[in-house]
Amino acid sequence: MNLLELKNITKQFGGLTAINNLSFEINEGEILGLIGPNGAGKTTAFNMISGVLTPTKGKIYFKGEDVTKLKTNIIAQRGICRTFQLTTLFKSYSVFDNVLIGCHLSAKTGFWGNLLNTSGVRKGEGKTQEKTEEILKFLGIEEIRNELAKNLPHGYQRILGIAIALAAGPELLLLDEPMTGMNNTETNDMIETIRKIRAKGTTILLVEHDMKAVMTLSDRIIVLNNGVKIVEGLPAEVKDNNAVIEAYLGREQDFT
Ligand SMILES: Nc1ncnc2c1ncn2[C@@H]1O[C@H](COP(=O)(O)OP(=O)(O)OP(=O)(O)O)[C@@H](O)[C@H]1O
Ligand SMILES: [Mg+2]
Repeated sequence: MNLLELKNITKQFGGLTAINNLSFEINEGEILGLIGPNGAGKTTAFNMISGVLTPTKGKIYFKGEDVTKLKTNIIAQRGICRTFQLTTLFKSYSVFDNVLIGCHLSAKTGFWGNLLNTSGVRKGEGKTQEKTEEILKFLGIEEIRNELAKNLPHGYQRILGIAIALAAGPELLLLDEPMTGMNNTETNDMIETIRKIRAKGTTILLVEHDMKAVMTLSDRIIVLNNGVKIVEGLPAEVKDNNAVIEAYLGREQDFT
């Protein structure tokens, strides 16, 4: 069953068409990779799905319901949460408080939402605190709970960004370049983290330039170029596709 559907989505910024008649589906439980060279329109697609931008044309359906024009907070409550390409944290707050704040946006659906219902007898704030604890533990960052966000190394800031998104209880998690700026070890840890999140039943849309990570993680991949979907297929199919290799030629990033 499809969880999310984009139907003939176009987004124009003045005279620039950032997304051109884009249609795709995300199936429940899958990791869908969304790739393409710089400026292809990946973040724009993200922003429309998460309600930051409204499409110029077209419709977005989540669980069969039209969510095209809903605002970010309503979309988050329905179960779609995102991280940002550049980490946005409450920098002067602790790790714990960042996630706690995220919990206040809580959707009551899926595994993450259920933590609220199952993890304690106390009501209200107590439950939120327990949910925060569980998320920190799940992501292996409970030991740095009292560190201020601004003092964290880059890799941990990215994980905290994910923790905040999970706190809102997503059924669909949108990740925008979670591996950016990470070394090999951090990248491999992030791959494992994303696998664990999916194993809890959370569907994932992954935008990422690290091809090794995208190829290992994704069940399917969609390739954008100049706002147009050029290829959709299994990682192995995408990897050998001439149109994809060409789209990346002469760009800064390698398609390897
Ligand atoms: N708010 C905006 N106003 C005007 N143009 C924009 C805006 N946001 C994006 N664009 C343009 O839309 C196109 C797609 O940008 P987008 O950020 O979606 O690409 P991307 O695939 O995420 O690239 P990257 O890999 O560099 O993150 C680019 O030409 C970009 O300059
Ligand atoms: Mg982007």
